[in-house]
Amino acid sequence: MDLRRAPRINPSILAADFVNMQRDLAKIATADFAHVDVMDNHFVPNLTFGTQMVERIQATSPIPLDVHLMITDPDRWAPAYAELGAASVTFHLEAAADPISLARRLRDMGTRAGIAIKPGTPAEGLYDVLDEFDQILVMTVEPGFGGQGFMPETMPKLRSLADEARRRGSNVWLQVDGGISDSTIELAAASGADTFVAGSAVYGADDVEAAVTRLRDAARAASLES
Ligand code: DX5
Ligand code: ZN
Repeated sequence: MDLRRAPRINPSILAADFVNMQRDLAKIATADFAHVDVMDNHFVPNLTFGTQMVERIQATSPIPLDVHLMITDPDRWAPAYAELGAASVTFHLEAAADPISLARRLRDMGTRAGIAIKPGTPAEGLYDVLDEFDQILVMTVEPGFGGQGFMPETMPKLRSLADEARRRGSNVWLQVDGGISDSTIELAAASGADTFVAGSAVYGADDVEAAVTRLRDAARAASLES
C-alpha cells in the first residue's frame, strides 16, 4: 500500500462543487488523500452523503480516500466505508461505543483506522491505546461545516499528543482538520501535525494544484524548524 510521505495534504471535498465532483476530484490529483466528510445531521447539524455517493467517489478519485465520519453509531456504519475501499476511515471518539473493537475491525478489513476528537475533548484517554490507531484527528474547529476559523487553543493538546507518541515510539499520524490555510498550517505543523485537511484553502484557490503545493511546502518548512 502506498503510504504517502509526510507532510500529507488532504483536500476536503466538502468544499468541492457537488454536481461537478468528478471535475473537482481531478483537480486534486497531486494531493495525498481526498478527505471525505460524511455527516448525518445527528452527530453534527449538517448532512452530506453516505455509502452510495462515497462508492462513486472511490471509483472516480485519482487519489485514495480519507473518510471522516461525523456520525452517530459508527460502530454500526463505519465498516461499510472500509468495505468500499477507503484507504482510511476515521470515526469520532465521542460517538463510538467501543472504539478499540471498531478500530480492530477496520484494520482487519485492510483499512487505516482513525479516531477523531472534537476541540473540547481531551486526548489523554488515547495515550495508552495509540497503537490501536493509524491516525488521530485533532479537530481544529467544531465539526459540521467548512470555512470556519482555526482554533489555536487546540494546539497544546496536539503538542502533548505528538510528544507522547514520540516518547512511546508510535508511528501514528497526527491529522488536523478545520481552518487550515496558508496562515495557520505552520502553527499546526510546528505543534506536531503531519497530515493536514484543507477545504476552502484548496478549493477556494484560483489554482488548486498550486495551493496544495504551497500548503505542503509551508508544512514541511515549519515541521523542520520545530
Ligand atoms: C468540518 C470538516 C472539515 C471541513 C474543513 O467539520 O470535518 O473537513 O471540510 O473545511 P475548511 O478547511 O474550509 O475549514
Ligand atoms: Zn473532516
